[in-house]
Amino acid sequence: MPKHSVGHVNDIPPGQRKVTKVEGNKVIIFHLDSGFFATEANCPHLRMPLGKGEILDGEVLQCPIHRAKFCIKSGDVKQWACFPPGIQLLNVVRGEKQLKTYPVHIDNDEVFVEL
Ligand code: FES
Repeated sequence: MPKHSVGHVNDIPPGQRKVTKVEGNKVIIFHLDSGFFATEANCPHLRMPLGKGEILDGEVLQCPIHRAKFCIKSGDVKQWACFPPGIQLLNVVRGEKQLKTYPVHIDNDEVFVEL
């Protein structure tokens, strides 16, 4: 898979994130305690933007809309959409789906995403 530069490591301080576009795809680059990670920028539930989602426990991203939670490193669903009460009724047509993740490499302090 081709590697794409998304900036210098200092562009994304620890605990921060950057929403950017790679090959027409919106991605979020995260700088966690354990390193740099990348995910798609839209929630697999109803495709709402995840860029302003809260980071819980240092590595879980919570969707700001219906509060689904995803592991930033693996994309695994920690909790599916759960807010407001009743949103679970939609699960018949919007079942659990992983968040896409992309490999990240650091080379000479430059951050690359494979996509
Ligand atoms: S859009 Fe993210 S949980 Fe519904």
